[in-house]
Amino acid sequence: MALVPMRILLDHAAENGYGVAAFNVNNMEQIQAIMMAAKETESPVIVQASRGARSYSDDNYLRHLMIAAAELNPNLPIAMHQDHGNSVATCMSAIEMGFTSVMMDGSLEEDGKTPASWDYNVSVTKEVVKAAHAKGVTVEAELGCLGGIEDGHGAGLSGEEAMAHLTDPEEAGRFVEETGCDALAVAIGTSHGAYKFTKKPTGQVLRMDVIREIHKMMPNCHIVMHGSSSVPEELLAIINEYGGKMPETYGVPVEDIQEGIKHGVRKINVDTDNRLAITGAIRKAFIEDPAEFDPRYYLKPARVAMAEVCKARMVAFGQAGHAGGVVTKSLDDLKKFYAMGA
Ligand code: G3H
Ligand code: 13P
Ligand code: ZN
Repeated sequence: MALVPMRILLDHAAENGYGVAAFNVNNMEQIQAIMMAAKETESPVIVQASRGARSYSDDNYLRHLMIAAAELNPNLPIAMHQDHGNSVATCMSAIEMGFTSVMMDGSLEEDGKTPASWDYNVSVTKEVVKAAHAKGVTVEAELGCLGGIEDGHGAGLSGEEAMAHLTDPEEAGRFVEETGCDALAVAIGTSHGAYKFTKKPTGQVLRMDVIREIHKMMPNCHIVMHGSSSVPEELLAIINEYGGKMPETYGVPVEDIQEGIKHGVRKINVDTDNRLAITGAIRKAFIEDPAEFDPRYYLKPARVAMAEVCKARMVAFGQAGHAGGVVTKSLDDLKKFYAMGA
């Protein structure tokens, strides 16, 4: 099966009340891990690549690996998404590379750090929507800014500053209406990476109420949660047991994500948890047999560890078992759908 537009996966998730994990990838083993998990759980798949991932993998490798994933799994609908596109040019190049979905993150300026103005965000998002929809490609946008570290797609805000940049539900309605985006990423107090919260988050810092409010106002809007790794204690423990040095830290509890899914969350971005799983498995392999030097010796368990995380999220978010139910549509079908003014 060819790669499918992400919009059809989000629509199916909304119709059936589940969420779809969007996993970041940089290499073959990560793509294989996601596909192993999807095959086992019969899940629809969203694979996403950041700008960093695209440059790390030289774009063409990634494209052909994704085509391989689709060829090897003809019964699974797979969408390929540009994560945090920082400009119209980034989104356009992703579309040319065969991505079936792009995120125009106009919540930040092109540097991926400076919070952008409303006018800038609306203008770049509208431009991408026009160009992407003309080709049947899905568009995710973002309103409000994530907090946390400066990673090129986060404002690097402190916890307090981030609270001042949460998505305003009122504005979210206007933004979706004005831009025509297919899905909206919202800022609710999360950030990218492993260091999201210093203790298990309460409703004061992880503002699930913002999601409930947005969903109440726009029940048909596909909401996207970024920075949604749960940073499981067990994965930190493996890293630290085998020589790593990660301090105590907390992520977004899976139960909160499940609550979000009841209120319109359809795409959940997860990267860090997979990074933790891979790193733990590789550290363990290195310590257990320091004489080994075949990369397959440590990449195999790393791939299995990531697949386990993916499987757990696919089951928890409810996408497991839904691959067969998605009526697949092509980019051309979606082109016609958008041309009708959808
Ligand atoms: O949005 C953040 C993702 O974890 C991707 O991160 O830019 O390091 O590839 P990256
Ligand atoms: P995590 O760092 O929480 O995995 O978030 C990933 C993300 O939001 C990618 O866009
Ligand atoms: Zn993100």
